[in-house]
Amino acid sequence: MSNITKKVGVIVGSLRKESFSGKVASELIRLAPASLVAEKIEIGDLTIFNQDLDDENRTPQAWITFREKLKEFDAFLFVTPEYNRSVPPVLKNAIDVGSRPYGQSVWNAKPGAVISVSPGRLSGFGANHHLRQSLVFLNVPTMQQPEGYIGEVDKAIDANGNFDERTITFLEGFMKAFAVWVATNSTK
Ligand code: FNR
Repeated sequence: MSNITKKVGVIVGSLRKESFSGKVASELIRLAPASLVAEKIEIGDLTIFNQDLDDENRTPQAWITFREKLKEFDAFLFVTPEYNRSVPPVLKNAIDVGSRPYGQSVWNAKPGAVISVSPGRLSGFGANHHLRQSLVFLNVPTMQQPEGYIGEVDKAIDANGNFDERTITFLEGFMKAFAVWVATNSTK
């Protein structure tokens, strides 16, 4: 494995202050091995995608800033809840904004991983796999194993915001595997 530190952009599919997904993302950042430096990327201020804004040179400043920011990263980690068995619109919008203008996708060829989070027992499986479908098209080589499904997440966090040992062990192993995945699939 390469000794070069890789920069990971962490994208959370929830804007909620007390978001479980946000808490899982923070824990993943904390548990990242030394070869990864991970940070959350804001997606809440992105205007809903409309191709006219690019085509008519009215690109919102938030899109420009977001697209520039994403170029800094070597890899992306997506941590998302499930909305109605799919990806929350705020996350899909961020993916769409980053993917355009055509031919200038910021996602292209950067390795990725997905963790879905839910208080329910199905663990956001639908969102996880809908997201993977987009990542296939966007040419993001997405880690296959371990798969990241955090179900009954409310029971994994105590009143002080600390995760139980079982979840910490899983998340730590996930990040170790992701470090190997990033090192072996990075193109730069
Ligand atoms: C949900 N929730 C939900 N949960 C799930 O497991 N499968 C689902 O399809 C849905 N659908 C859904 C739709 C909408 C519009 C909302 C607001 C919620 C429940 C969801 O998992 C729960 O609210 C989580 O706490 C949301 O994630 P964050 O914000 O805690 O990260």
